[in-house]
Amino acid sequence: MLLPRILALTLALAPALSHAALFTDDSVVKMIDAKQFRKAMKENITQVVAFVAPWCGHCQRLAPEYSKAALGLYPLIPTYAVDCDKPKNKPLCAEQGVQGFPTLKLFPRGRHVAPLEFTHGERSASALYYWATRNVPHGVKKLYNFDDITPWLEENKDSHRAFLLNNGKHIPLLWQTLGNKYKDHFKFSLHRDRRGLSSEKMGFEKSKWGSSKVLFYPAGSVDYVLYEGIQKFDSLSKFFDSVIDGTADLRVVNEEAKNEEFAPDEKELEIQRRQEAQRIALAHGGFSSLIDFEKAVLSGQNPHGPDHAGYPGMMGEMPKDDAKPEDPIHNILKHQKQEEAQSDSSKAGKMAATGDSHQATFEAGSLSGQPQTAALSGTPAAPSEASTVVAQPKSAQETVASQPSAEGDAARAKDEL
Ligand SMILES: *[C@@H]1O[C@H](CO)[C@@H](O)[C@H](O)[C@H]1NC(C)=O
Repeated sequence: MLLPRILALTLALAPALSHAALFTDDSVVKMIDAKQFRKAMKENITQVVAFVAPWCGHCQRLAPEYSKAALGLYPLIPTYAVDCDKPKNKPLCAEQGVQGFPTLKLFPRGRHVAPLEFTHGERSASALYYWATRNVPHGVKKLYNFDDITPWLEENKDSHRAFLLNNGKHIPLLWQTLGNKYKDHFKFSLHRDRRGLSSEKMGFEKSKWGSSKVLFYPAGSVDYVLYEGIQKFDSLSKFFDSVIDGTADLRVVNEEAKNEEFAPDEKELEIQRRQEAQRIALAHGGFSSLIDFEKAVLSGQNPHGPDHAGYPGMMGEMPKDDAKPEDPIHNILKHQKQEEAQSDSSKAGKMAATGDSHQATFEAGSLSGQPQTAALSGTPAAPSEASTVVAQPKSAQETVASQPSAEGDAARAKDEL
């Protein structure tokens, strides 16, 4: 008889399923206990913690979505999970006010800033990812115009200052996370040097398009140290830590940074490969998988409706080589836009719609708002009185800069400048 056999099979599988780990071995979400939680919260960085119970169905559905978001955030925003079913974790979960599973909390700055709870509805990878990246209290000052640089350096002369020149539209998440981590020690700013003109004005050789520069100004000084190490979170943290130590000669520290070899282990390389694949997929239409998204559209299901529980398991796969770019991506995006125009769709859905892969390519097309004929001051501290050109109004630049773009965001979250 078939039926009893199926039943028997189901029963045999049931215990195994309910005890299965929520997160697969390759997930970058780290399971932590109460002790590890307290240790993590000593770090002044933004971290996300999911309070879960392995038997809970919503947690099982969350896990793959959370893992995808975690991969995108790694290693800049660490992601954790606490199993509240374990007796030794129960006091922590109670203390954190956990009343249902999963409860997702973002700790903007370790235990120093009150946590935020994720209450945005659908717990999709994209919604979680955006939530995390939007809530880093970085304090990085954006210096829109070249002429804003010197006044900023002077206003903050008594502090150590970390200044980034790069060509991206957004503040890189890496710079934000460093700004957050070292807020008590340094002032952070950024100037968008889209075509390398500002670098040139500051006396550097005309830089290659796309190269970033980190300049460090010790407190009281108008001279900078050009950071020559690896432009990644760990290496920059090491450099900043040495500065805070105070005793080291900055140039020696910098020389050490310069000679540091980048030697990630195999596990780290594998994570990087998966991150790259995820970024590519993101650039092709967002975290929701194209294949499943298409299916949802064809079946007439509203992908943003209340029943939409995300499409686990598809992220991270490379788009197929033979997939024609015209279809089905464009049809899906078009459909999605129409849907959004018609109905009040979820926040996550709106963000996914901005993942049009054409959007970011506009970036290089137009000239920056920097005054082209401004004084070519040889040193960064030189006064800028010779500048007479009126710069583009800030508000216009802000609008451009804050335009959401899933692709831009994915690139922004890289662990490199
Ligand atoms: C972390 O932040 C707190 C509060 O802002 C501050 O008192 C503490 O010194 C910071 N720790 C580090 C290592 O920066």
